[in-house]
Amino acid sequence: MSGADDERQASDQRQSMSGSGDAADEDPTMPSRRRFFATAAGAAAVTALGPGAAALAAPARDAVTFWGRNQGGIATAQQSYAYVAAFDLTTAKRDELIALLRTWTAAAARMADGQTAVALGDDPAAEPHDSGEALGLPPRRLTLTFGFGPSLFRQDGVDRYGLAPRRPEALIDLPRFNGDQLVPERTGGDLCIQACADEPQIAFHAVRQLARLTYSAAKMRWAQAGFLPINNQQETPRNLMGFKDGTLNPPLSSAPLLERLVWVGEEGDWMQHGSYMVVRPIRIALEHWDRMKLGFQEQVVGRHKRSGAPLGSRHEHDPLDLDASDADGNPRIPENSHVRLAAPAANDGAQVLRRGYSYDNGLSFTAERWPPWRQGMEFDAGLLFICFQRDPRTGFVKIFDKMSKFDMMNQFVTHVGGGLFACPPGAASGGFIGQSLLEGA
Ligand code: HEM
Repeated sequence: MSGADDERQASDQRQSMSGSGDAADEDPTMPSRRRFFATAAGAAAVTALGPGAAALAAPARDAVTFWGRNQGGIATAQQSYAYVAAFDLTTAKRDELIALLRTWTAAAARMADGQTAVALGDDPAAEPHDSGEALGLPPRRLTLTFGFGPSLFRQDGVDRYGLAPRRPEALIDLPRFNGDQLVPERTGGDLCIQACADEPQIAFHAVRQLARLTYSAAKMRWAQAGFLPINNQQETPRNLMGFKDGTLNPPLSSAPLLERLVWVGEEGDWMQHGSYMVVRPIRIALEHWDRMKLGFQEQVVGRHKRSGAPLGSRHEHDPLDLDASDADGNPRIPENSHVRLAAPAANDGAQVLRRGYSYDNGLSFTAERWPPWRQGMEFDAGLLFICFQRDPRTGFVKIFDKMSKFDMMNQFVTHVGGGLFACPPGAASGGFIGQSLLEGA
């Protein structure tokens, strides 16, 4: 049994021992789910926040501490499920925006610690303060990552919250890329939440509570759930095209690399220690892809399907040699294959930290793309592409601009929504997410 399996088993035992979160959460004399985790799992609770913290965020630990220099869910070892939601603010008042962020911060910290979003309450005449579907579950490494969209700073020319002068230059309006078919109802948003956990009900619960806590100030604009077979964190998970995805991601164990690629470093910038998140639900024409011959699929990606090795190599982590030629003198990794176009060597060294999930929304009868091979119904499924970087202009935009024009994979994929969000630094206990933006103004 692997170390990760041991951890999971221990986690399951802790879960069964801890009982359900209930009135004990509020009664200091009773053993509660929260206090149990604060003690029994306390030693395992990690601060996946801060340089090198990702290395500490070993798989299958139960709780990832919410407070810290950086927000969780960025350099945290990836969890198996995500629920990403974007919100539009319905309030025009800056004070209400601050109150919302304070509320979200407090609730997020509680839930990351295995508590209900707010104290449950036991008045039969009142609505329960938390919907309750996570009662009795350990936090399963829940992280909540908050981001601010460009429209928070200015919307239709209006500076609703007096934040326009503080909009970072890096928080650009993403350009329209070749082939984009963004659906307005799946695109944009003033605020974004990425909830990740090793249990889907926990991730969904968290977003649902945050949404209901702020019904009066914000409404959900779009949401997308995702999944990822992380197994023991040793093997690279496969995407819905059946290929290993993440092989050449920057390693989370390298703090200096993350400082260079992921975290905003400028002193005095309210975004210092934050990061920029690009989210793009990318629909994959699975029915079309599944009809392609194996050899062609491998040419499209630039890697072997089974092993994940670069074409012509044997092992997944063999170097990606872009200069190698085959017996006929043709490049072994085709010129318009995905990995060649995505490689740092082809993009002046540009790199991002990818943290995507597969998604499946069932069948769709109204395909957004133009598929001559359309059968009348198709899976609405694909990749919920998520990446983090210190500057999207030199990260995602730099890489994707060329890719969107030349990648062979484009025959099979369509970007249908998403956006760019500035994820501020983490909060110190007692503070709130976005404090450096809202109180520094
Ligand atoms: C449905 C869409 C996509 C699929 C199925 C997909 C799949 C893959 C696969 C299988 C690999 C090879 C294994 C690896 O190194 O991770 C890869 C690599 C990569 N992909 Fe994608 N990808 C998609 C979209 C994108 C987009 C939109 C970007 C934009 C930045 C991107 C950036 C990269 C990068 C940077 C690499 C690593 C290249 C390297 O370092 O050599 N991918 N992708």
